[in-house]
Amino acid sequence: MIDVEKIRQDFPMIRNHPELIYFDNGATTFKPQCVIDAVTAFYTHGTSNVHRGDYEIAVQADRHYDASRRSIARLLNCDPKEVAFTAGDTAALNQIAYGMGRNFLKSGDTILTTEAEHASNLLPWYRLEKEYGIHVEYIPVDRQGVCHMEDVEQAWHEGVRAVAMAQVTNVLGSLQPVKEIAAYAHRHGAYMIVDGAQSVPHRPTDVRDLDIDFLAFSSHKMCGPDGVGVLYGKYELLQKMDPVFLGGGMNARFQSCGEMLLKEAPEKFEAGTPNIEGVIGLGAAAEYLMSIGLDNIMEYERDLRAYFASEIKKLDHLEFYNPDNETGPVAFNAKGIFAQDAAGYLASRNVAVRSGNHCAKILHEIIGTDQTIRASLYFYNTKEEVDRFIEAAKDISIENAISILL
Ligand code: ALA
Repeated sequence: MIDVEKIRQDFPMIRNHPELIYFDNGATTFKPQCVIDAVTAFYTHGTSNVHRGDYEIAVQADRHYDASRRSIARLLNCDPKEVAFTAGDTAALNQIAYGMGRNFLKSGDTILTTEAEHASNLLPWYRLEKEYGIHVEYIPVDRQGVCHMEDVEQAWHEGVRAVAMAQVTNVLGSLQPVKEIAAYAHRHGAYMIVDGAQSVPHRPTDVRDLDIDFLAFSSHKMCGPDGVGVLYGKYELLQKMDPVFLGGGMNARFQSCGEMLLKEAPEKFEAGTPNIEGVIGLGAAAEYLMSIGLDNIMEYERDLRAYFASEIKKLDHLEFYNPDNETGPVAFNAKGIFAQDAAGYLASRNVAVRSGNHCAKILHEIIGTDQTIRASLYFYNTKEEVDRFIEAAKDISIENAISILL
């Protein structure tokens, strides 16, 4: 059970903007005081580099940094050696694609994905297509972006060597059966890569149970700082994978002839001075979410979304694209009104939503439009906020959208 009123007190952004209905959590989330404190404490009491210094504050920084790795390992149910910190979900997915191209795939191999993906889980694969001769193919999905096992089986052929998909997509909130797909992929000698940007913050994630090979996600979408994220990989795969970046902190030694010996995973993926305060803040965010309980968060959001869906369905002037999905954002349009104009009107009523294509630029091949309004919830949102949103949404009209421009 979630005590939402108590939880809301943890977030200065909520206190400082009492009128704002923040439904843009798919883009980024607010930060609780404990995360802000962890980052501030590093800068005010503990500034130093990590894994390089022998003096007291440097040793403390190492401890905090390494504790964050253990927190993430607990969040995912994996070994800390399987957690590498990156600059975010995008950086992790680019690292995975680079490594797949160099170490695990060969020209002529196929990677399956879906048309519902965010750019960060498509563009790196398109580059492999150009540079390594890898084929990118799409598993069909239904009108709400969900991929069914029979579609996977139909899309499968001998050349498929990997599947890369979001567990929950960023516009339609399609929850994909990644555990079943991973099992199918492994039976057929293929790898399973999961973009967890929109799932890890919202539901329990057990990488051992899912038996996925790689997972990427960002800190800022789970109450943590910006500019930091996680690359999870099965240890033996990380050991075989070449890092994109080479430099300090990730090599054991090198010689003037160019010979180099890299450190083991995960350090070999963390070249240069990392985002230390970001990693420490991410650790605090993970501990905060675990203290609430990811199962509680999932349940609370599912109920809130179901209520949201039932209310928005009553508004005939809105087109609702994902009524049956139980998780993730609510995607809609006001009929006959450009998404950004309608979102602008909602903003005038203190409702923050995102409009546009949301970086999912081939999703229009599934839903028939490349412009939607996306309302994305988190566990600190309330039914009262949904009610206030619905009151504002009732008034979306061309006249009202124009009136705020005048
Ligand atoms: N990837 C983020 C979103 O979907 C920014 O809005």
